[in-house]
Amino acid sequence: MRKPIIAGNWKMYKTATEAKQFVEEVNGLVPDSEKLDAVICAPAIFLAQLVVSAENSPLQIGAQTMSEEDEGAFTGEISPVQLTDIGVKYVIIGHSERRQYFNETDESANKKVKAAFNHGLIPILCVGETLEQRENGETGAVVEAQVEQGISGLTEEQITQLVIAYEPIWAIGTGKTATAEDANEVCGIVRKKVAALYHDEAAEKLRIQYGGSVKPATIDELMGMEHIDGALVGGASLEAGSFVKLLEAGS
Ligand code: G3H
Repeated sequence: MRKPIIAGNWKMYKTATEAKQFVEEVNGLVPDSEKLDAVICAPAIFLAQLVVSAENSPLQIGAQTMSEEDEGAFTGEISPVQLTDIGVKYVIIGHSERRQYFNETDESANKKVKAAFNHGLIPILCVGETLEQRENGETGAVVEAQVEQGISGLTEEQITQLVIAYEPIWAIGTGKTATAEDANEVCGIVRKKVAALYHDEAAEKLRIQYGGSVKPATIDELMGMEHIDGALVGGASLEAGSFVKLLEAGS
């Protein structure tokens, strides 16, 4: 069966002191990595420090984005080589905020997903529709196209290691969670698409998260759904107690 994965996405929140305190607080409370993958995707400036702080805990550290290039004259960018070198294990790719504010596209997401795999990082590829697209009945088509382009050219082995996060844009940071049934339906569409592009066995191993205003009060129902294997959590991952509750529900 698929191992659950709960990932916190801190976005551009916390100071170095707060980040360190958080990890020290949750360290002893993270469920065993055989039961669940627990990840914190922190601002790049804290990554090296947090890898060290989480050293003796099952907590894994992830980045929120990265360059598709290994190295070069790309001022301000961080490469997959640099991330793996400091012990980062996961990287969020193509988050809707990256697409909205930093011109990321399905094409750039695909390059980054491949670059992540080339350097031993596990990508969490984000897909999801806008409110307008949902109201126009386009959710399935939009998400299928994002998945198809985002995973283009991956090997079957990579598909089984990949994580896809379904995050309806209208549910991010708004307090509006998709119903568990709606979230499951779209996660099912994602799995079916991957099965069609590869085959059933690879699609069955693919882990799919739901993201969008997930909270301790809503996670149980989401995790009970057939196609939902975890959550990508923004706001509710910022406070240690709340993050630990999410991990407990996931394990
Ligand atoms: O990556 C996380 C998502 O954007 C969800 O954020 O839980 O604050 O709605 P949120």
